[in-house]
Amino acid sequence: MHWKSLTLALALSAQNRQFASAAMMRFLCNQLVVERLDPLVQPGMIPSTHLHQVAGGNSFNATMTPVDYDPSQVSSCTSCTYSEDFSNYWTASLYFKARNGTFKRVPQMVNLGLPNGNGGLTVYYIPPYDGKTKVTAFKPGFRMIVGDAMLRKSQGEQKQLCHRCFSNVQQNPFGGAPCTGDDTTTLPNKMCGGGIRATITFPTCWDGKNVDSPDHKSHIAYPSSGTFESTGPCPSTHPVRLPQVMYEVMWDTRQFNDKNLWPEDGSNPFVYSMGDPTGYGWHGDYLFGWKGDALQKAMDARCSGDKCTTLKVQSADAAMACTKSQLVKEPVDGWLTELPGNLPITYS
Ligand SMILES: *[C@@H]1O[C@H](CO)[C@@H](O)[C@H](O)[C@H]1NC(C)=O
Ligand SMILES: *[C@@H]1O[C@H](CO)[C@@H](O)[C@H](O)[C@H]1NC(C)=O
Repeated sequence: MHWKSLTLALALSAQNRQFASAAMMRFLCNQLVVERLDPLVQPGMIPSTHLHQVAGGNSFNATMTPVDYDPSQVSSCTSCTYSEDFSNYWTASLYFKARNGTFKRVPQMVNLGLPNGNGGLTVYYIPPYDGKTKVTAFKPGFRMIVGDAMLRKSQGEQKQLCHRCFSNVQQNPFGGAPCTGDDTTTLPNKMCGGGIRATITFPTCWDGKNVDSPDHKSHIAYPSSGTFESTGPCPSTHPVRLPQVMYEVMWDTRQFNDKNLWPEDGSNPFVYSMGDPTGYGWHGDYLFGWKGDALQKAMDARCSGDKCTTLKVQSADAAMACTKSQLVKEPVDGWLTELPGNLPITYS
């Protein structure tokens, strides 16, 4: 089943109609590695403070200094469907804390309409919805972050970080832009029969000069207004329009949907790898690594979905075969007595 026919079949709000009918690249990047490294926030630190799950080019490492370290040159493979994309996409991991106090990592499932995979995430590159405005692809060395791993409350939260609770694997309610409908910034406070979708949508305006900034955010900005943070004009400080990058992580929580495992008081048993049980600390990191001008060409051609004549694609098996062994060797799966890094659960 093609996901687009699904979205179009729905009665949607104006905002969601615009989202559903737009040309957008949407493809799978399988899991490359799950480990405690963070070349953006804690470069050179082995291990980093909290655990991440990483997809994309296999040159991911503790130190990836712009512009010298070019993932498209140093990688020998990528876990993404588009085989010229050696970018790295990473987020926090999610754990389930059972009633007896032990933790198990929540696996990811493949999104609707995508090929077989081993987890990872769905990546989008979305050009402006008007179908004609040009975007400028990221420059070599470009990187950025959305979210704040330390956040535990709504005050200070960034836009476009959301959770959706699906009642079944057909993803009902289906369709519509993230952060609409019943989506919440917090982790859902109930069992989700079809898993939890966690989304991250990056800003689309760039200062045109810096590939990074000290907080990894100041060189980018959301448009001052507009549908789904993308259609409004870019602020004068950040005049260059970028493709809209979005992540969808499909947490497969189904194995944990058992009342006997949940806390007796019904409180939320899921906790992000930073020790965050609220969801406010959910965050995503992006490190550009497309080969040459492949992304610019794809944006100019208004590529859609996970096949496009201007881009090379690889088989599901080849994409899944691209993995990397942990540099920081530690158990991250199975029932663990503590979160990786022995991080405490913090509510503030
Ligand atoms: C990653 O970095 C470490 C430490 O700097 C180095 O020893 C290792 O060879 C690097 N791994 C790869 C795959 O480049
Ligand atoms: C904790 O609970 C889980 C889920 O029921 C179980 O698989 C695991 O063996 C338990 N661990 C301990 C140490 O009791």
